[in-house]
Amino acid sequence: MRKKPLANPPDVTHSTEARPTRALVLHPDTRAGDRSGREPKHALEECISLAHALPGLEVLGGDTVRLPKPHPGMLFGKGKVEELRQRIEADEIELILIDGTVTPVQQRNLEKVWKVKLLDRTGLILEIFADRAATREGVLQVELAALTYQRTRLVRAWTHLERQRGGLGFVGGPGETQIEADRRAIDEQMTKLRRQLDKVVKTRELHRAARAKVPYPVVALVGYTNAGKSTLFNRLTGADVMAKDMLFATLDPTMRAVDLPHDTKVILSDTVGFISDLPTQLVAAFRATLEEVLDADLIVHVRDISHPDTELQARDVETILEALGVSDDIPRLEMWNKSDALSMDDMQAAANLAARRDDVYLGSALTGQGLTRLLERIANEMTATLTETTLILPFAAGKARAWLHEEGAVLSEAATDQGTEFTVRWTARQAARFAAAFPEVAPAVVQPDGDEQQSAPNEPWSP
Ligand code: GTP
Repeated sequence: MRKKPLANPPDVTHSTEARPTRALVLHPDTRAGDRSGREPKHALEECISLAHALPGLEVLGGDTVRLPKPHPGMLFGKGKVEELRQRIEADEIELILIDGTVTPVQQRNLEKVWKVKLLDRTGLILEIFADRAATREGVLQVELAALTYQRTRLVRAWTHLERQRGGLGFVGGPGETQIEADRRAIDEQMTKLRRQLDKVVKTRELHRAARAKVPYPVVALVGYTNAGKSTLFNRLTGADVMAKDMLFATLDPTMRAVDLPHDTKVILSDTVGFISDLPTQLVAAFRATLEEVLDADLIVHVRDISHPDTELQARDVETILEALGVSDDIPRLEMWNKSDALSMDDMQAAANLAARRDDVYLGSALTGQGLTRLLERIANEMTATLTETTLILPFAAGKARAWLHEEGAVLSEAATDQGTEFTVRWTARQAARFAAAFPEVAPAVVQPDGDEQQSAPNEPWSP
């Protein structure tokens, strides 16, 4: 079950019913080297753990099904369909999750023969996103993605949830008129969502402002699904001596303040796990759930170093970060997690590799091994990035002043003959963003010892 609670559950999410839906996962092994050459067994395991992430399901397990050539009508061959039908009946399975793409025709046919509801990979990921979206923008993006997906799949997408979510009315028969009416309803709904989304994006700053009220830098944990981010997050923010449980009610519940060595404080932020084959219509939704990463001062990439596909997973994470537009300027560390699950030999090999890199920490979120060193490093990174400076702004620079306050960077301010003098404590990234947002102010940054230093490429501002 998820540990990341919802701040604002979207209405596309189904509620947890008293009796969970019995589900089975099938991974079609096409042998065509899809999914970046992953072993089918691992792909199946991943899909099963994705299914576990959805509340309200009882996941009975999963199977790899050989599928050299997908059948246009039924996806699987006749014999396989019948074999699975018997199993579904015997095990009273109500939901089939297929770890791949299923066409609307295949879906309809299989649902009919198997008397189950069926979701393909995109549908499953959409459900998980709907469950996790915490910001208003995230919720709207997921709904929009869901509708886009549904529009291409009239008549029978998402039906397993229709009774729980009150339905958008796509249950009707497959008559042409009904499909037309459904399509129109979806289009209207999408227009409405887009309008709402526009508004939300305009007020997106609210979210940022909430986090900026906490005058600490943000450290974002990212990583492939199941890498151990939440375990690490809980360990670092939980009962540990190093960490102090200090939940900010205004923030996303997955952000907490942590006391680090050397009197440093950071906000640690847990994020949605990354997955390979992120359907394109989900990229925007995924991005909306990851706003804090775009704005982080440090990224810690948590990797399951004991996983046979750890390199592929790391590459996927890097690719997704790049696609999301996460800046290369944000410093990154890697936490090679689950060292406790390695054999002695593998442990030695991993330790040798890690020792050769300055940005890698080997350890275990479960046993706590290696975490002190990681925290020490995070503290050092933060101390290195947080600097205290003085700057003088003209009295008229109200927006720049508001920005500094919103970012929680102001330690003190006082009126002088030349303008308002601010003492600010901020990260290099904040300073750069300030310079980019207010080039016209281009303040002369006065160091406490009186040296003058440029914070922007422009000439120093003088009153
Ligand atoms: P998503 O939320 O799907 O992105 O996963 P996550 O990265 O938050 O992983 P999570 O913390 O939920 O951990 C996944 C599984 O790995 C759980 O069963 C954990 O108990 C286990 N796990 C986490 N850290 C360690 C570790 O250091 N060693 C071992 N052996 N298991 C770990």
